[in-house]
Amino acid sequence: MTNKIGACISSVGGYAPPNIVTNHDLAEIIDTSHSWIVQRTGIVERRIVEPGTPVSELASFAAMDLIRQRGIEADQIDLIIVCTVTPDMSIPATACIVQEKIRASKAWGFDLSAACSGFLYGVNVGSKFIETGAHKKVMVIGADVMSSIINVRDRASYVLFGDGAGAVLLEPSDSYHLRIFDYLHEMDGAGGKHLYLPGGGSLRPASHDTVDRQLHYVHQNGPQVFKFAVRKIEQLSRQILKRNNLSVKDVDLFIVHQANMRIIDEVAWKLGLSNDQLVTNIQKYGNTSDATIPLLVKDALSDGRLKKGDTVLFAATGAGFTGGATLARWGY
Ligand code: ACO
Repeated sequence: MTNKIGACISSVGGYAPPNIVTNHDLAEIIDTSHSWIVQRTGIVERRIVEPGTPVSELASFAAMDLIRQRGIEADQIDLIIVCTVTPDMSIPATACIVQEKIRASKAWGFDLSAACSGFLYGVNVGSKFIETGAHKKVMVIGADVMSSIINVRDRASYVLFGDGAGAVLLEPSDSYHLRIFDYLHEMDGAGGKHLYLPGGGSLRPASHDTVDRQLHYVHQNGPQVFKFAVRKIEQLSRQILKRNNLSVKDVDLFIVHQANMRIIDEVAWKLGLSNDQLVTNIQKYGNTSDATIPLLVKDALSDGRLKKGDTVLFAATGAGFTGGATLARWGY
């Protein structure tokens, strides 16, 4: 990428709801066990909101955290992109609700839906507005209330997900080297049948029948999603490194979507990554969909794992199927 203006992440915010639900808590309401969940997924606990809590609330908390960290006013933000698969409602966009909640009076914005790849899509879309010179401050939020779309009767899915939100601010980089310097995205619509939420859209508008048939919940073929994630994350990671003349050893930190610890371990093993290059939060948050990557970044910064100048490889896959990888040299 040779754009004169480079985009960098200048600040990160996050919000994990306070209510912790452990595997033992789940074993009291569904037919599962702590040991099954840990062995098959690596998850120990997750954060779950009170029913009816809108995703805009989590997104706004993450946005306000970011604004505080960066020391700016909300009305300095030009654009808000909310990446989510659990919007407050179909109309209006959650970005509009967040804009009003945080009083970002000069921002425009929109929602972006690409499931667990959504946040990386959002970062790359947002960085184009920086690179063209159109905007100086773009906020990308990844937020989901997955507990609102998972069926308690579907134990293989119910144990996987948690609720959360993270946000990053994109700004012009003052250094040529410290920037988001490449991205790669793919989509495979044929994978849609393996992970989808069939009811409530224009195909099957909400009705007594859609609710009776539980069509307002996520339906997934776990093993198919698992296989795609391992194959595609490895492939996208290798491809983006190769075209930038980098090897796995050049990566200081690999920040990958958190769907299942076994997916992360398999990808790390196939790529030859060491533990020093990996950060994980699935143990404490589960799969928070659009929020996993910004929450990981926040953790990595606060525990000193992510430092100025580090080469960071981001990767994710999600429903669609969707996938992406991004390379950045960390700017602050
Ligand atoms: N507790 C106890 N047993 C369970 C549970 C549970 N929570 N869930 C499933 N089982 C049982 C099954 O019934 C099955 O029993 P059987 O052998 O008697 O039939 C057995 O465990 C094995 O089931 P599998 O589905 O083969 O288990 P698997 O090892 O594949 O793990 C899982 C299932 C965890 C869903 C895994 O496939 C996975 O993580 N897939 C990826 C899913 C994912 O990441 N989805 C989100 C994608 S990102 C996005 O865009 C939202």
